[in-house]
Amino acid sequence: MAVAGVFTATVSSYAETAISYAKKRNSESVKRGYRVLTEKAVLSSDFNQEVFDNVWQCWPEALRVKAEAASAEQRREMAFARYGLTPRPEAPEKPLQYVVDAEGNWTMNCFSCHGGSVYGKPVAGAPNNRFALQTLTEEIRKTKFRLGKPLSRMDVGSLVIPLGTTNGTTNAVVFGMGLMSQRDEDLNIIAAAPKKFVHHDMDAPAWWNFHKKPNIYIDGFAQKGHRGLMQFMMIPENGRDFFINHEDDFRDVYAYISSLRPPQYPGKIDAIMAEQGRVVFEQTCAECHGTYGSTPTYPNRRIPINEIGTDPVRLTALEVEGRKKYARSWFAHANEDEEQTTVVDPDGYVAPALDGIWASAPYFHNGSVPTLWHLLNPSKRPNVWRPASEEFDDEKVGLTTKVEQKVPFTELDAAIRRSYFDTSRFGKSNSGHDYPAELTETQRRAVLEYLKTL
Ligand code: HEC
Ligand code: HEC
Repeated sequence: MAVAGVFTATVSSYAETAISYAKKRNSESVKRGYRVLTEKAVLSSDFNQEVFDNVWQCWPEALRVKAEAASAEQRREMAFARYGLTPRPEAPEKPLQYVVDAEGNWTMNCFSCHGGSVYGKPVAGAPNNRFALQTLTEEIRKTKFRLGKPLSRMDVGSLVIPLGTTNGTTNAVVFGMGLMSQRDEDLNIIAAAPKKFVHHDMDAPAWWNFHKKPNIYIDGFAQKGHRGLMQFMMIPENGRDFFINHEDDFRDVYAYISSLRPPQYPGKIDAIMAEQGRVVFEQTCAECHGTYGSTPTYPNRRIPINEIGTDPVRLTALEVEGRKKYARSWFAHANEDEEQTTVVDPDGYVAPALDGIWASAPYFHNGSVPTLWHLLNPSKRPNVWRPASEEFDDEKVGLTTKVEQKVPFTELDAAIRRSYFDTSRFGKSNSGHDYPAELTETQRRAVLEYLKTL
């Protein structure tokens, strides 16, 4: 069942709790960090307002007819919905995911992947599970051709590197590898022969657990530091000096990301069942995922790939050589006085902290499992599914999904085709993590209730 009326009524309150929580720890640095992300373009611009305002003209006919009859405001909402963009929580006239300057130039920012909507409410730091980067880029390119505008870095780059084949996931790790292959360890640009990469899509992790982690990424290979956060800026236009000159900005971004905490579950929770769930969780799950409540623990445990059994592509796509180069590079030396701890040959994935887990569907690093109920019932996970609406499924705790037989490959609207998640495709398996299988039905229900409290 989808959202109950009660749920919608209370849903705005968690955005407010998250904001007031952030305010409490709002040092000047945290505030500056958010401003850097939303107001300071650190890449070359992707497109301008005129191009964005005209993008609807290349939509499939039915949608185009609707857009033509709509007001400018409604058209903008349609475009936001199509591409997975949201208004900025504190400045709804601007998008959260792009910096828009006074001249109307749009430049992608970190929130394009790390700021989405939690069931209809924009939340900075929540994974953007609707971002349609591939479709947006293709349609912007078409629009530029039509208007006779020059192409940008992304328009051309996307002809070489796939951006993301399923909405809400991106080939982001490979963007980083591709760009780094064109730099030396001090970030000087070098003329290296193009390398071949193993393309694969990932679901961005929520930022609100960053403060708990000593190392980041699903394999936990990289030590946390402000320099590592700057990898996103490695376009050829940004030379080594650009990085050095922006270190202070990214110290602030680091402070901002560290200040985030998850939104609280806005619906009803059965306290007795949740308490039973806590007991089961602490017996079966806590050794990897830690404990919660007043004295939380986070074990930061890496589980060998053969044991965890989730999709292995991400682990092997990043080669030991690449990790070694990262370990030697400027990015990995943010804190010179500390011994660095880049793990160059991780053997599996690190169990993530589960705070706010209800709000960050879909699940696993590749986003292959739509709800927590499916995560807890490994044999019932759907092979092909798509989000049926933006509404929260409060019974299964996650996306309201439609299970499908197969992807309609003849569907001409790429935006629709890419809304299907097909677990038979490379890098998209939903297998593994069979730990919940040993629980009884009652125990699983109790754990599901408990997970809402985190
Ligand atoms: C195109 C999408 C995309 C953009 C843009 C992006 N990221 Fe990410 N980010 C990802 C993905 C996917 C991962 C997961 C990578 C992994 O685990 O291997 C990630 C991981 C991270 C993590 C590690 C989180 C954790 O808990 O392990 C941090 C921190 C992070 N990104 C910061 C940033 C910052 C800062 C920016 C902007 C300067 C940025 N990202 C831009 C997609 C993106
Ligand atoms: C032996 C270690 C281990 C145990 C035991 C374990 N997990 Fe996990 N869990 C992991 C790892 C590793 C991942 C990351 C897998 C991936 O993304 O590929 C994970 C992922 C998850 C996720 C998805 C997180 C996300 O952000 O997408 C949830 C939810 C979860 N586990 C819940 C549980 C519950 C509930 C239990 C107990 C019934 C449990 N886990 C037991 C290691 C474990």
